[in-house]
Amino acid sequence: MSNQPWWRHAVIYQVYPRSWADADGDGVGDLPGITSRLEHLADLGVDALWLSPFYVSPQNDGGYDVADFRDVDPLFGTLADLDALVARAHDLRLRVVVDVVPNHTSSEHPWFRAALAAGPGSPERARYVFRPGRGDDGSEPPNNWQSKFDGPAWTRTTDPDGSPGEWYLHLFDGSQPDLDWTNPEVHAELESVLRFWLDRGVDGFRIDVAHGLVKADGLPDADLSLDETRDRSSLLPMWDQPGVHDVYRRWRALVEEYRGTQTALWGEDDDRMLCGEAWVQPAEALAAYVRPDELHQTFNFSFLMTPWRADALRASVDDALASAGAVGAPQTWVLSNHDVVRHATRLGRSDATQVAEVEGIGPRDEQPDPVLGLRRARAATALMLALPGSAYLYQGEELGLPDHTRLPDEVLQDPTFARSGGTRHGRDGCRVPVPWASDGPSLGFGPGEPWLPQPPGYADLAPGRQRGVEGSTLELYRRLLRVRRELGLGTATLTWLPDAPPDVLALRLLDADGTRVAEVRTNLSDAPVTLPAGEVLVASGDLDDGRLPSDTTVWTRLTGS
Ligand code: GLC
Repeated sequence: MSNQPWWRHAVIYQVYPRSWADADGDGVGDLPGITSRLEHLADLGVDALWLSPFYVSPQNDGGYDVADFRDVDPLFGTLADLDALVARAHDLRLRVVVDVVPNHTSSEHPWFRAALAAGPGSPERARYVFRPGRGDDGSEPPNNWQSKFDGPAWTRTTDPDGSPGEWYLHLFDGSQPDLDWTNPEVHAELESVLRFWLDRGVDGFRIDVAHGLVKADGLPDADLSLDETRDRSSLLPMWDQPGVHDVYRRWRALVEEYRGTQTALWGEDDDRMLCGEAWVQPAEALAAYVRPDELHQTFNFSFLMTPWRADALRASVDDALASAGAVGAPQTWVLSNHDVVRHATRLGRSDATQVAEVEGIGPRDEQPDPVLGLRRARAATALMLALPGSAYLYQGEELGLPDHTRLPDEVLQDPTFARSGGTRHGRDGCRVPVPWASDGPSLGFGPGEPWLPQPPGYADLAPGRQRGVEGSTLELYRRLLRVRRELGLGTATLTWLPDAPPDVLALRLLDADGTRVAEVRTNLSDAPVTLPAGEVLVASGDLDDGRLPSDTTVWTRLTGS
């Protein structure tokens, strides 16, 4: 494509290990299962995969509660299985990005057990955020912070003599105590963890809760009317504090040391990459994480949360490109992941134009329209994959998978459901095991009963039903990825076409030398629009006698320029 480093334009596919492929038949996906399916990714045409955590964990939060940062949970396999996965992926020219979870550990991590045993004031407790409670008897939490999964962000401990003791901070579940990033020992440990995986040959990290590590001095009460995803995040004392940037400067220098250590594999394009999960607003504050000496990428969640409206999408794209561009960073694009309702479902709700909610949908909620959702999702993906920068796909979106929106309460595992007393459905609906076949007890996911039931519609979406089928979602993704690569869209420059009809996004992509490469149009109006002449490269749905129907995206080739 170009001589720019891979992470500036890569398409990266997220694998959620519990739900991708189960080789040993225990109903939970595993590393050998993933390895056995890697050809699917090579055939799809992505550049890399990102693995959500497979580390030793009690699985209270799907593995984002890590009890040993340096080993594979037996549920998923062994370190040797991970090595085999990386080797196979590299054979297939796929890079492997792994998750690192530096904000917290599991309460089963040896550090936290030692902290509880050692008692107040000990160096063991100083790795976490322990504080006395408020009120005469310390029975009130140290401040008013709330857990992302509902309820207070503090849990009180019990001293060895049975009396109530200090409280510890957990921005997530009570089984996920926050580490204290003012402690140099914490820095040293996580840097050593990065080296451990880099030495095993991984190509980068996705950094969990990257904006949360450093808390405001004195842990002041928060203004609970603010929301980190919509308001200026740094106004909240637990998010986006200036000190996090020091962490990432050190991490960037660390991963740079590994550049050029695998040239036999990657030639000159031999960088390791850091991508931060940072729910930070506004775009300029997010861009501070990708200054040249910090992270390579952050997820651009604003795009994911943008309503399905032309003006909103255009503003979101402009804002994102301008803010990243101002610091010389590539932008990233993402529409689905393991924490949000899949876009094929989200966009099928009656008010997708107004609401950009990403909270899980359950049987008691309004049920989305799957046909409309998939149609819009395909158009949204075709728009996203034309945008300059790097793009993330979430497992199964290439099959058009919707969320399971009718999961019964008894099977739910996301801690959000229990912590909210059942008022928030949680994220299980987007984590349902992938169908690899159209029959069998778990639709080819594995020989056992899957850990979450699959909805009836999944059988028809298995790859075997779609491969080679004109118009299928799988073939659409394959074609989008192939054309994107051929035309170098990931490193192109975007300009908007001035003459587009209202509610149509129309953009032109230019090469570095100013040559026009392609035009892309997404029709968000409710009527078809006339298309200018030009060779259609790919369309997210059938065209209507040369016109572009609503909720459809088309890429056309520009010739003669
Ligand atoms: C991130 C993960 C999410 C997890 C949380 C706590 O947001 O994506 O799945 O629950 O961090 O680790």
